[in-house]
Amino acid sequence: MDRFIIHGGKKLHGTVHISGSKNAALPILVATLLTDEPCVLHRVPNLRDVRTTLKILEYLGKKVEYKDNTATITADGTLKNTLPYELVKQMRASFWVAGPLLARFKTAEIPLPGGCAIGVRPVDIHLKGFEKLGAECETKAGNVILRARELTPAKIVLRFPSVGATQNLLMCACLIPGETVLENVAKEPEVDDVIAFLNKMGADIRQGEKGQLIVHGKTALHGAEHTVVADRIETGSYVLAACATRGDVTVSGCVPEHNSILWEDLQEAGFTLDIQKDAIHVLPYEGAIKPVRVRTAPYPGFATDLQAPWMTLMTLCDGTAEVDEDIFENRFMHAPELVRMGADIVTEKSVARVTGVKELSAAHVQASDLRGGMALVIAGLCAPGETEVERVYHIDRGYENLEQKLTALGADIRRYNPDKNEF
Ligand code: UD1
Repeated sequence: MDRFIIHGGKKLHGTVHISGSKNAALPILVATLLTDEPCVLHRVPNLRDVRTTLKILEYLGKKVEYKDNTATITADGTLKNTLPYELVKQMRASFWVAGPLLARFKTAEIPLPGGCAIGVRPVDIHLKGFEKLGAECETKAGNVILRARELTPAKIVLRFPSVGATQNLLMCACLIPGETVLENVAKEPEVDDVIAFLNKMGADIRQGEKGQLIVHGKTALHGAEHTVVADRIETGSYVLAACATRGDVTVSGCVPEHNSILWEDLQEAGFTLDIQKDAIHVLPYEGAIKPVRVRTAPYPGFATDLQAPWMTLMTLCDGTAEVDEDIFENRFMHAPELVRMGADIVTEKSVARVTGVKELSAAHVQASDLRGGMALVIAGLCAPGETEVERVYHIDRGYENLEQKLTALGADIRRYNPDKNEF
């Protein structure tokens, strides 16, 4: 298993270019199941979760070509309507094939995704929505079996604006003739990107005056070409790494308005940001980092995926900052590892109280999830000396060319495989 060896204490400087969004690319790849016609997707990041999704599409019967961040998905005979647990357990988002498969075949059998490091993560909102659309949902031997004699348009009010459920139900509703209305939906930019792609495929999805999504279902969708939106979580992560190392970094090829809350919080903490149309420049800052309280919330609130990297920044603040995690129930796994690096963090239920220290110290730490892993990498970049971050495979799920991008910014980070004793 790969590790990162980081020699920290260097300020990042230079320009880093942002990749396509993982969380948009995954559902967009899944949406290609809604047609047999070819779909061409650009700016698809080369990440472990993307490769898992491509394997899923191949398993289901699609032909996949993936080169230089462009994925071309074509149909190769008939599609299967079931997935093995082996593929679902690697990535929870695999469950999202349920919507398109149900819409196309009126039946699908998908293993129920289990919990994961950050929480229980049930799929009840997805299933309730499918039931409203006329499907019967049964759980048997760990699988969810979805069946419908006929799917019918419906009005669905989500009990929580789940990103995955919004996307899954949208994909299903696109192939149900008539008007489906989804209320209390997720408003994340990744959802907008999925909607843009579905509409290019011939779907008719509009936003109503109260933010509801109105879908006029069609009998068939066609192939389409699309470029995936920039990754706002990668953007935020590099900006936080720049701030934490007191660097001078331009993050280019991004959509700054997708991180508005983060920019406000960073400015409140003392940093100066030059926010441009498709780039953001973190200016050098040597003053005290003021403690700023953040509370994670559905978009446009503070992104739960940036909570861990934010916490690393606050370990260096002048005072005590609170971090409230209100989306996932177990998303502080990075906190004890940061404490091993000298941070002062006390967690109680969904609140972490982070009291700033003068300096983090290098240590041997372990990533337990994707974004928590990035928090440890940023801590390693700040801490003078050698930090070793184990279980890099978590981080590989979501950051394309991480060590190359950080090296180009002047960081000293290397990937090491202890089994092969190879850098
Ligand atoms: C997506 C993102 C993930 C991000 C999260 C929240 C992808 C691949 N992943 O995950 O990076 O952290 O949005 O922004 O896009 N919930 C239920 N029942 C359901 C569905 C969700 O209780 O049926 C709960 C979850 O357990 C969680 C909360 O709702 O506590 C948010 O989950 P959701 O928005 O669905 O996140 P994902 O789509 O899984």
